[in-house]
Amino acid sequence: EQIEKGGYPHFMLKEIYEQPQAIRDTFRGRMREHKGIIKMAGVDDHIDKFLNAKRLVILACGTSWHAGLVAEYIIEELVRVPVEVEYASEFRYRNPVIEKDDVVIAISQSGETADTMAAMKLAKEHGAFVFGVCNVVGSSISREAHAGAYTHAGPEIGVASTKAFTTQITVLTLLGLKIAKAKGKISTSDFHMHLEELRLIPEKVEEALKNNEHVRKIAEVYKDASNCLYLGRGFNFPVALEGALKLKEISYIHAEGYPAAEMKHGPIALIDEQMPVVVIATRRGHYDKIVSNIQEIKSRKGKIIAIVTKGDVTVKELADHVIEVPEVMDSMSPLLTTIPLQLLSYHIAVMLGKNVDQPRNLAKSVTVE
Ligand code: G6P
Repeated sequence: EQIEKGGYPHFMLKEIYEQPQAIRDTFRGRMREHKGIIKMAGVDDHIDKFLNAKRLVILACGTSWHAGLVAEYIIEELVRVPVEVEYASEFRYRNPVIEKDDVVIAISQSGETADTMAAMKLAKEHGAFVFGVCNVVGSSISREAHAGAYTHAGPEIGVASTKAFTTQITVLTLLGLKIAKAKGKISTSDFHMHLEELRLIPEKVEEALKNNEHVRKIAEVYKDASNCLYLGRGFNFPVALEGALKLKEISYIHAEGYPAAEMKHGPIALIDEQMPVVVIATRRGHYDKIVSNIQEIKSRKGKIIAIVTKGDVTVKELADHVIEVPEVMDSMSPLLTTIPLQLLSYHIAVMLGKNVDQPRNLAKSVTVE
């Protein structure tokens, strides 16, 4: 097992560090920049389904559901088609409205999650075209789907999902760009700009990983917290949910993710000097609004850990701690802002002596209801 961990103390840390390569492996061979195309056989073979879809419905559980939420923001923005993201477990039991011209996307790292499998079968029964996004090649969901795309993240052993999440977002970004191009919703120059941004993501993830020691020191300060709030807006709202999930899963600290503006409808009542609040406050995404959310937290004495764009000055003055990520276009920022949140949870869990790779009560793939 030590050999498999490749010198890292835990699989989770190894997998966090594998993300630059995993993301590269996910887009390698698919981005044909010189030709200005994205090659995805599972989409190319069924392009009519995607072109005619009135709606996309995403089905998933856990971290994969969070990747689905990020995809909702990305695909709606690029393709201008409505996207709904459903918990597979809810979808399967509520007699859902599914039409023949819906395209259903089932996202599952393991490809074995019972609820996701049952939900996709139900969608098929209603005549929908089902596209699978899985990491494990030959898994049940990948076989049951009409077509699909693998994430190529390599085996993920840590129960808390890391590289599967970022590679799911990568695949779904490629999918959004591809459909947008096929539908004529994106200009050639914009399409190229997106491909170029995506191509640079692995290097930027590497840069974000260089903050590891800084993040560890922040973890030291907050490891004994009983609660933690995570806030984000827009593309980074699902990242707030995912950050909170990571902390819960491996450190057993109660954490909640919220859209920052919703704070005033509840969580603000919890804020006092005992409450660390992690705020994703990168420059492009509703920056001014996030800054005013940060001021609201500060005036209630909450402790602020802000994820900011490199070179930020405004938030730096307000926050107790800042963690920088490289500049990137807004829609791709989740691929970077996720990194420090993974590291923060990891270090807190290690400091608390928790079993990081196999947290209590959780399983890597949930094959029963
Ligand atoms: C379990 C795992 C999570 C995962 C979820 C969905 O709860 O512990 O890490 O996100 O299942 O798994 P899937 O394989 O369908 O993505």
